[in-house]
Amino acid sequence: MGKTLITGATGGLGKAVVEFLSKKLDKSQIAVLVRDGQSEQAGLFKQQGLDLRTGDYDNQDSLVKAFSGIDTLYFISGPDIIARHIQHEKVIQAAKEAGVKHVFYTSTVRKDESLTAPLSIVVSGHLKTELLLKESGLNYTLLRHSLYAEVIPMFIGDKAKVLETKSIYLPVEAGKVAFVPRRDFAQAAAMLLADAKAHENKTYHLLGSEKINFEEVAQLISEVSGEKVSFHSPSVEEFETTLKAVGLPQEIISTLSSFSQGIARGEFDQESLDLETIHGRKTLDLRTFLSRIYS
Ligand SMILES: NC(=O)c1ccc[n+]([C@@H]2O[C@H](COP(=O)([O-])OP(=O)(O)OC[C@H]3O[C@@H](n4cnc5c(N)ncnc54)[C@H](OP(=O)(O)O)[C@@H]3O)[C@@H](O)[C@H]2O)c1
Repeated sequence: MGKTLITGATGGLGKAVVEFLSKKLDKSQIAVLVRDGQSEQAGLFKQQGLDLRTGDYDNQDSLVKAFSGIDTLYFISGPDIIARHIQHEKVIQAAKEAGVKHVFYTSTVRKDESLTAPLSIVVSGHLKTELLLKESGLNYTLLRHSLYAEVIPMFIGDKAKVLETKSIYLPVEAGKVAFVPRRDFAQAAAMLLADAKAHENKTYHLLGSEKINFEEVAQLISEVSGEKVSFHSPSVEEFETTLKAVGLPQEIISTLSSFSQGIARGEFDQESLDLETIHGRKTLDLRTFLSRIYS
């Protein structure tokens, strides 16, 4: 088996994929892409005996160099949802130029792919990347991720905030989400990468075993914290006005608002056994996940 390179290796997902893959492959078969080769994390990767490569999604030449000798790429979508439209083209072009054979790409599950969908700004970049990959002639595996369970505290606040206000305020209505703790995505990725050939040109819908709405999130937090937490879904207009009044930056308001509207419309209310089948188990239950944050 050739070498596998994990991009975004310093991030929450990438670091966990490296951790799980290191238990499955010899370290000499794993390379990691970082932007800053002098960072503490880069030093740790080196100490672990991993092949450290530096490159930036904004710089195609740096990527061609970084991908040299790589057979399989675990390509993590960039966090900048606007810049990634161009960045991802560069990653795919560089992969072709460097002779990479197979690209695993972390995409998103969705229902509405139209330009008027509340999450269009997120979905359009993934759609474009999926198409480019399919047209590239490279072998590909599309990993369509559901929402990370880690977004719950990002959307509603951490323990201190939720227990102070004793409420969840988000225009998500009764929308359900099949959340997945990020480490479950990472472990599944390592299992697929260790047997990459078997997954060529396949698309997986990686959804959590449980689907819950935010009324149920409030209920679970009440149980694990011992404090009654209530849930209120305001109108989108009220939500945005309230957040503006407390001085939140427009970018954060827009992100929260779009994701809330997507959730309300059931974008993440989907079912698939793909993730359970890969793991041979259910995803971590959300009560346990939430108790680690809110109890
Ligand atoms: N499904 C979901 O609910 C969900 C939620 C959040 C994010 N996401 C997506 O999933 C991806 C991974 O999530 P995460 O939690 O691991 O994110 P994260 O912790 O923010 O990590 C992002 C990684 O991308 C790297 N990166 C950023 N810009 C780059 C560039 N121009 N060139 C090369 N590398 C670059 C970062 O490197 P540095 O250390 O150099 O900054 C970091 O390693 C995110 O990037 C985002 O696209 C999905």
